[in-house]
Amino acid sequence: MKKFFIITIASLVTLSARADEGMWLLSLLNKNIDEMRAMGCKLSAEDIYSVNQACLKDAVVGLGRAGNPFRHFCTGEIISPKGLVMTNHHCAFSLIQEHSTVEHDYLSNGFWARSSSEEISNPGTTASILQWMEDVTERVTARLNDEMSEEERQKAIGEASTEILATVQGDHLQAQVQAMFEGNQFFLLVYKIYPDVRLVGAPPQSMGKFGGDTDNWMWPRHTADFSLLRVYTGPDGEPAAYAPGNIPLVPRHFFPVSAKGVQEGDFAMIMGFPGSTDRFLTSFGLEETMNVTNAIRYEARTEILRVMKTGMDASTKTRIQYAAKYAQCANYWKYSHEQNIALENLNTMGAKEQIEREFTAWVNADPARVARYGEALELIREGYAGTRESTITYAYLGEALFAPELPKFAAEMGEALDMLCSGSVPDHVTDIEGRLKNFAGRFFKDFDREIDQNLVATLFPLYRDRVDESRWPSTFQLVNKKYKGDFAKYAREIYASSFFTSEEALSAFIDKPNAKKLAADPCYQLGKAIRELYRQLAGATNDAQEKINKGNRLFVDGLMKMNPTRVWGPDANSTIRLTYGQVGSYRPKDGVIYDFYTTIEGVIQKEGPAGGEFEVPQILKERYAAKDFAPYGKDHVVTCFITNNDITGGNSGSPVINANGELIGAAFDGNSEAMSGDIDFEEKLQRCINVDTRYVLFVIDKIAGAKHLLDEITIVY
Ligand code: ARG
Repeated sequence: MKKFFIITIASLVTLSARADEGMWLLSLLNKNIDEMRAMGCKLSAEDIYSVNQACLKDAVVGLGRAGNPFRHFCTGEIISPKGLVMTNHHCAFSLIQEHSTVEHDYLSNGFWARSSSEEISNPGTTASILQWMEDVTERVTARLNDEMSEEERQKAIGEASTEILATVQGDHLQAQVQAMFEGNQFFLLVYKIYPDVRLVGAPPQSMGKFGGDTDNWMWPRHTADFSLLRVYTGPDGEPAAYAPGNIPLVPRHFFPVSAKGVQEGDFAMIMGFPGSTDRFLTSFGLEETMNVTNAIRYEARTEILRVMKTGMDASTKTRIQYAAKYAQCANYWKYSHEQNIALENLNTMGAKEQIEREFTAWVNADPARVARYGEALELIREGYAGTRESTITYAYLGEALFAPELPKFAAEMGEALDMLCSGSVPDHVTDIEGRLKNFAGRFFKDFDREIDQNLVATLFPLYRDRVDESRWPSTFQLVNKKYKGDFAKYAREIYASSFFTSEEALSAFIDKPNAKKLAADPCYQLGKAIRELYRQLAGATNDAQEKINKGNRLFVDGLMKMNPTRVWGPDANSTIRLTYGQVGSYRPKDGVIYDFYTTIEGVIQKEGPAGGEFEVPQILKERYAAKDFAPYGKDHVVTCFITNNDITGGNSGSPVINANGELIGAAFDGNSEAMSGDIDFEEKLQRCINVDTRYVLFVIDKIAGAKHLLDEITIVY
């Protein structure tokens, strides 16, 4: 709450007393630009976002997946006139992993394409570039009224959005309408989405993931967390699926890369695609996040990671197969744990309760407010109570039942195999056998039967013990009866008898489909039962959820009316945003100051055993011993630095930009002390961790020897 006081008082005096919370919408930068310029920014709002002229936003790409390209998992920035994109190593990690085998271990050795013909395509990965955005709140709210139920409201919003999207004209454009401020405002965002994204270069993980899970979410950090991709277009320069004849994207703008370095207090801003934050979360929602979502995720993933690690430690093949799955699981496993600690330490609950008390006092001071907002908090309270059990079920469903891959895979394949068995494949689907085998081939490349079977044996009993019997998948009764509740035995038997456990057996089935055999397959049955359960739960009408939605919408609307002079930033929702602030140190705890930058000295200091999280590659040690740093540094190279920018997951890889619009780094993490930041921005503590462009250039030059890439880049000394 303390924050609220400061803001209310500060906003009476001047906005610039307020630091750095806010993931701002690009089309509204005129509200921020004065403050930005006062902080040292030399650019105009139009330099950053303009509909008509080339600007910074043209060089920022959202990385997505073909099925859901608007849900950007990372950000990248264009750094050459030939569509070269820098993002994080951890953003390309699953691509690097997918292309890795025991023979070609790009994870361990790194990967550098020596020419465009060596760049590797990644079907399914997309890069979106925003064309324009606009506030469509009035066009949506014109269809809404206060008498509507939440369901009617959602329907009306859907219809309005469809109409708005239909007005977007132009080739190759893809658009979305996104709600902001808990459904109080709406924005149209129009993109070009490029489906041909190729892997160009990545350092070995001993550099790109230096520090591993131990250093993850921590400062001080020494990670070369970057990789290079390239966006390709059709010969006409427009988005096109991968084809050998495609050409590198000619961008409207690309970032010059600074080798000048950063100083404490320097202006820094970041553009990117933050995924989600919950800054308006109430005390009721916070309680659920801590005791349900975070607790269950941490509990289940501790088991998952243990099972995976046992398998990975046993063989190089499995280590490569599970590298990305493990890293992905470990990332938010640690986050959940650290977030709960930070929420406790910082008494975020107390802050939330204080806001709610002030809100209530404000509401009660005026009968008109009571009529409009009086029920908001009570609705939210009732809503959380009413969804409690299903939230717990969903959490265990997602974290435990969905952990083993084979049942999911069997159910997914099963739908197509069903068609094959009954001869009902639609005419437009050609070569279904080939496609299924292809899909299976990709699945089996990174599948280990032993690990998966152990996940069933370990995670399913957890679900059984934590979730009420009425919400079990139907197969659990069978395990109780036939196997006396012994999930390990059950897992062993079904994995031994299913034809889904081996590529050969599955391929033979595709060649000779048989409906009876499919229906009798135990992994298929299990996968189907889990899906069925999921559908059932999702289909149940949920008055309680509607109460939360309505309550939140009213609460946020009220809060904004209660603080009319504050410039509010909407929560992250995978749309492009800008955050600005400064480079700067911080005090993680009493008596300790953390410097704002790290150097290669720290890499050497942290060195640990080969194969471990702190392995230092030989070539790096040689460069260090020879002090071969120039022109990126003299006595050392700066590796990472921190800023007080407001970022979250999805921002990974985002350009960190100096006052002149030059690239000074790529954002890649947040700090554990402020892991509560997605829920309550911690002005004094919250830092954004960035890899310094000087380290990036050093690695491309002195470690990879990829001079041809340096030649593409405009380096500013
Ligand atoms: N915490 C980072 C993020 O969520 C990911 C860092 C990946 N590095 C790692 N050691 N797992 O963006």
